Amino acid sequence: MSNISINDRQDLFRIDTANTSYMIGVKDGLYLGHFYYGPRIRDLDLSYRTAFAPENALKEHEPEMVIFMDCSRFEYPGWGKGDSREGALKALFPDGTSCVDLRYQGYEILSGKAPVPGLPSTFPGEEEISTLKIDLKDPLTGLKVSLYYSAFYACDVIARRVEVRNEGATEVVLQRVLSATMDMHSNDRKGRPFELLTFHGTWAREFTREIRAIGHGRTGVASICGKTGNRAQSFLGLVSPDITQDSGEVFGMHLLYSGNFSSMVEKSPNDEIRVSMGIHPEEFTWNLKPGEVFYSPEVVMTYSDQGLGRMTRSFHDLFREHLIRGKYRNMKRPILINNWEATYFDFDMDKLLSIAKQASECGIEMLVVDDGWFGRRNDPNTSLGDWTVNEEKLPGGLKFLSDRLSEMGMKLGVWFEPEMVSPDSDLYRAHPDWAISISGRDPSRSRNQLVLDVSRQDVRDYLISMISDVIKTANVAYVKWDMNRHLSDLYSADLPSDRQGELLHRFVLGVYDLQERLLQAFPDLLLENCSSGGARFDAGMLYYSPQIWTSDDTDAFERVRIQEGAETLYPLSCLGAHVSICPNHVTGRTVPFMTRGHVALAGTFGYELDITKLTDEERKLISRQVELFHKYNDLIRNGDYYRIASYRENGLYDCYGVISKDKSEMIMTFIHMMNQPCRPNRLIFLCGLDPDKRYEVAKISTSEIKDGEEEASPIAEAYGSTLMNAGLVIPCMYGDFQSVLYLIKEKK
Ligand code: DGJ
Repeated sequence: MSNISINDRQDLFRIDTANTSYMIGVKDGLYLGHFYYGPRIRDLDLSYRTAFAPENALKEHEPEMVIFMDCSRFEYPGWGKGDSREGALKALFPDGTSCVDLRYQGYEILSGKAPVPGLPSTFPGEEEISTLKIDLKDPLTGLKVSLYYSAFYACDVIARRVEVRNEGATEVVLQRVLSATMDMHSNDRKGRPFELLTFHGTWAREFTREIRAIGHGRTGVASICGKTGNRAQSFLGLVSPDITQDSGEVFGMHLLYSGNFSSMVEKSPNDEIRVSMGIHPEEFTWNLKPGEVFYSPEVVMTYSDQGLGRMTRSFHDLFREHLIRGKYRNMKRPILINNWEATYFDFDMDKLLSIAKQASECGIEMLVVDDGWFGRRNDPNTSLGDWTVNEEKLPGGLKFLSDRLSEMGMKLGVWFEPEMVSPDSDLYRAHPDWAISISGRDPSRSRNQLVLDVSRQDVRDYLISMISDVIKTANVAYVKWDMNRHLSDLYSADLPSDRQGELLHRFVLGVYDLQERLLQAFPDLLLENCSSGGARFDAGMLYYSPQIWTSDDTDAFERVRIQEGAETLYPLSCLGAHVSICPNHVTGRTVPFMTRGHVALAGTFGYELDITKLTDEERKLISRQVELFHKYNDLIRNGDYYRIASYRENGLYDCYGVISKDKSEMIMTFIHMMNQPCRPNRLIFLCGLDPDKRYEVAKISTSEIKDGEEEASPIAEAYGSTLMNAGLVIPCMYGDFQSVLYLIKEKK
């Protein structure tokens, strides 16, 4: 089924999803204008809305071309013709000019959706998809832009990207190539100015939600540190004021990219908005020879007039069905125990085996050996790049460990930080030119390490061969791919001086190439990306790893907020979440063991503690948490996520649920964050149930189930409409950070 409609004159294009429409069109055969994005509509011709310039005849504007350019709604604006807003494409031509005037050339409907060479991209999966391709061209220089649009009908998402082809006779230098812009109205349908939703953070404080007013001029978020970073998500949302989970409008956009990005909103004097998203133009140039093509990263966008919840579920479905790949995409992930917070660098074979033994007895399925197993690495100052096992620490190597684990029925996971090199390493001594640094300048170090120039093929070949050897020899089932610093001192010994501006993008392409090659060589490998916690948690990385470490802050209290932010944008199945020891190493806070488990169950689930130091009681709780994981992970991974109440908003409690697609079963987590005297019970209004189905509500036992005891004890029975409108009373809990799980199951 094609979701693309075209008018008889073939100059208006409408792309539909189940609940949305997106419209662009050609003005007088010259420019491509943006006409509409919002709730599903049926018309193609919107010329009755004559107030806006792009819908007027262009010739009327010829004497005032600058004003026309500056006020019109363009779909993909060029540079230097009078539009003073943020341009999408800018190039330096041999004569020193940089003007790009993008005129409409033609369109094509392609069946399917092709992958983007070298970059992550959404794929059709089970869905039949057509792609609209629109060509624009600068007549003077021959620079051609192809815009690609593909609609994911069921999940209400449109994917956009751009190809820039040099059809001129001389080399040009691209100075900015954004992936998408959108010129639109600045008020919601109730006439209230849109606000900007973003997520900011820092180490151990990722995914902090922020909503700000959009004033005149430019506002937004960006990264220029060489990776996405934890300072901001490469996402932006335009939202109605007072947006809630189920009311208000939202336009949400994600960039599928893991490097420098810019996500901007610009309000013009006439109160129009230009949204723009793509590779940050700072520190970016790309030399394009005649005949060559530049591929932009993809943007995925959705619109909801039913609040943030619908946007969240649209992105969850898109990422689960059309972005995440590989064996583990629809599978339960092995429950792992990671030794980082248990031992840091201070471990040996005996210690790891004693952790593994106790873990396997509790049902944990994989041991992950974190930082410190290689070279001479007993602290963060050495050996990155020397990916051979430290036999002093681990006699017999990872192979010996893996064999012992497999006798216990466990798998082995291993930590790498492939993009890094320690100045104190054999690799650096042999290849100092492989590190990104400027000759004659002392490169800035971070954690005493430098960044390897993975834009180079020879560096990538070295890394693939080293990592593959480890995986093969020790039968490694999981790799944690870490990345612990920003890029600085930019210079690649492999690039000529006039191509140094390509380094950052080539670096990202290099990372993608490395991960792709690894996955091709080891299709059963489970990859988890990580970057000092969540500093490279972006939609681009999800194409390579079905899960990403969310934050080094494993304090369940903090995680409630961090995970709420992450869940707004990404499926729960992607969120690396572990139970760790208390007092928590980052915050010093103590949260009950079971609450830590409940919070981690809303992610990939695992442990990050020295299990040999736990009490028998705590180990019994692990066995119970493992049971809960096996019982409910299918639902948590695949279901629809509903945020019911937020501690961020009420300062007292948090509540979320995940319901199966057929609405027959929901697991709901309630966390009593802060106790208060004289506030007995909480009334919770459930969401997402079928109003006409009758449900039984049962409290899931969180302690060990003794013989003859029920897993879940029924406490209420009611129609979905009742539970959603009259609510459910959660009895008072004593103490802070208490939590409880409920199963709400259709009564047949
Ligand atoms: C940063 C990661 O976020 C941690 O989980 C851990 O792997 C350390 N790096 C190891 O150096």
